[in-house]
Amino acid sequence: MGNIIRAFIFDLDGVITDTAEFHFLAWKQLADEEGVSFTREDNEQLRGVSRRESLSRMLKGRPIDEPTAQVWMTRKNDYYVRYLDQVTPDDLLPGVGAFLQSARAAGIKLGIGSASKNAKNVLQRLGVIDLFGVIGDGYSVVNSKPAPDLFIWVAGGLQTPPNEAVVFEDAEAGIDAALKGGFWTVGVGQSNVQAAHLLSADGLATLTVEAVQQRFA
Ligand code: BG6
Ligand code: MG
Repeated sequence: MGNIIRAFIFDLDGVITDTAEFHFLAWKQLADEEGVSFTREDNEQLRGVSRRESLSRMLKGRPIDEPTAQVWMTRKNDYYVRYLDQVTPDDLLPGVGAFLQSARAAGIKLGIGSASKNAKNVLQRLGVIDLFGVIGDGYSVVNSKPAPDLFIWVAGGLQTPPNEAVVFEDAEAGIDAALKGGFWTVGVGQSNVQAAHLLSADGLATLTVEAVQQRFA
């Protein structure tokens, strides 16, 4: 096919680090306070989607007026941000640091495409924020994943067309967003989405930059 891969765009939660447990604990605290049942299994449905969509999924169809929704989201975020104080460079998922360094050494541009409004805070605490040329987060676009807008926004910032960029994602909403945007995709973790040009990996520790480039070349 003769593709040249010029950019890698990474989702944050579940790919670079794992903050799903902190999101769970924060939503759980809010749910308990409000008498809403919410389990770890329910939390899996919140992966990769925006804060507002997460609240709707947590409520499982229970109606809420918008002013109350805003107050509840602020409360959840306050709980979540307190957990982020614990995040250090040790919380990079296995192999991430080496993979990013090796991609940079290969001249590949690096970007982040995260639904989280806390993405920059998390990247700062992980000590990797300076490795990324463009950081797309929960403030960058109006339509969040599974819309392709965020990844397209990041690719634009990296001056790279989608068909020369690979998106690394752990959540179905993110894989759908990347495929819709015309990106090559690597499903990380338990992702079982199948597509002709999808490469799957347990985590970045099991991948090399060369293997990814060759897969999509
Ligand atoms: C995503 C997480 O990265 O960010 C979701 O996978 C989360 O679970 C979303 O809801 C929004 O995060 P935040 O930090 O803006 O509330
Ligand atoms: Mg994710």
